[in-house]
Amino acid sequence: MSNSKQVLVTGGAGYIGSHTVISLVNAGYTPVILDNFSNSEAGVINNLREILQQDITCIEGDCCDQNMVDTVFDENQISGVIHFAASKAVGESVAKPLLYYHNNLDSLMVILRSMKKFEVSDLVFSSSCTVYGQPEKLPVTEATERMPAASPYGNTKKICEDIIFDVVQSDMPLKATSLRYFNPVGAHPSGKIGELPRGIPNNLVPFVAQTAAGIREAITVYGDDYQTPDGTCIRDYIHVVDLAEAHVKALDYLDQQSDRSYYDVFNLGTGQGNSVMEVIKTFEEVNHVPVNHKIGPRRSGDIEQIYADVSKAAEVLGWRTSKTLSDALADTWRWQQSLMKSV
Ligand code: WQD
Repeated sequence: MSNSKQVLVTGGAGYIGSHTVISLVNAGYTPVILDNFSNSEAGVINNLREILQQDITCIEGDCCDQNMVDTVFDENQISGVIHFAASKAVGESVAKPLLYYHNNLDSLMVILRSMKKFEVSDLVFSSSCTVYGQPEKLPVTEATERMPAASPYGNTKKICEDIIFDVVQSDMPLKATSLRYFNPVGAHPSGKIGELPRGIPNNLVPFVAQTAAGIREAITVYGDDYQTPDGTCIRDYIHVVDLAEAHVKALDYLDQQSDRSYYDVFNLGTGQGNSVMEVIKTFEEVNHVPVNHKIGPRRSGDIEQIYADVSKAAEVLGWRTSKTLSDALADTWRWQQSLMKSV
């Protein structure tokens, strides 16, 4: 895709979306953000303008509103879509499944209808390694069978992948890819954007950062009796800036496909696993700050370990991570400190 083109970024004010907006601009694209700010802050848009030193178009609206989304396509020369907008809290999805099926499935179908109507054929979809469940063999490749979802959230990701696959087989010209994220962590090195968990963080790294900052008393390590070297769960923690860059590579790759129909999936991880205790210890070492922690019971629904085989994204997209876990944890701490200054 020649880089002067406009890209609709749904959920572009969110954690991964906002970092991807920066990568898109740096690659010469013109992002058009569509966000209802249900799980993000409008202030992120100003921070993006500050980082980029240029204006950014942001439309406030709900991706489930077909008329509104049609209007966005009608009023902008959209040439490709990166669809981030979705609810993503595993625990909340168990409590509110209908909210998740509505928001995550209807928003995708609205986007696809508008793409068909306005003849836009390039779609990058935000998926998750959660579709693999607990794989029997590690590292996980894209050929690893998807498992029955452990939560409504995970199921919405699987169903969305299937919806896209089926639409690609239909009469609608569609070139699409599902990007299966492992565990996104870190923040933009500027310290101006990062993860903004609402309330008590579910995820490990923001909880570690808030504990180090004294906002949380201590972090509970959910189980140290797993079959791993130090007994704690292993995940593949990928820097959000590396993750953002992968979206630009994916968009470029779709644009190069001459066929009217294309679908593929890519694992986006570092290819390396780190345990919960390794994350905590690395955070302390890199940032020279203690992180109070205690061992607690396992969290239900947690899998023991997962990390990615990332060779396909490297070979096909020409993308690899360049940042380390230490980089991510240093950037997280810088972001956490800037958050505390802003309150
Ligand atoms: C990582 C490890 C916890 C908090 C989830 C979703 C996934 C994606 C990322 C949306 C686990 C342990 C955590 C704490 C802990 N979300 N932990 N104490 O569960 O791998 O993935 O978030 O796209 O789809 O499934 O990430 O950061 O919650 O947990 O010990 O206070 O840290 O048990 O082993 P997870 P996480």
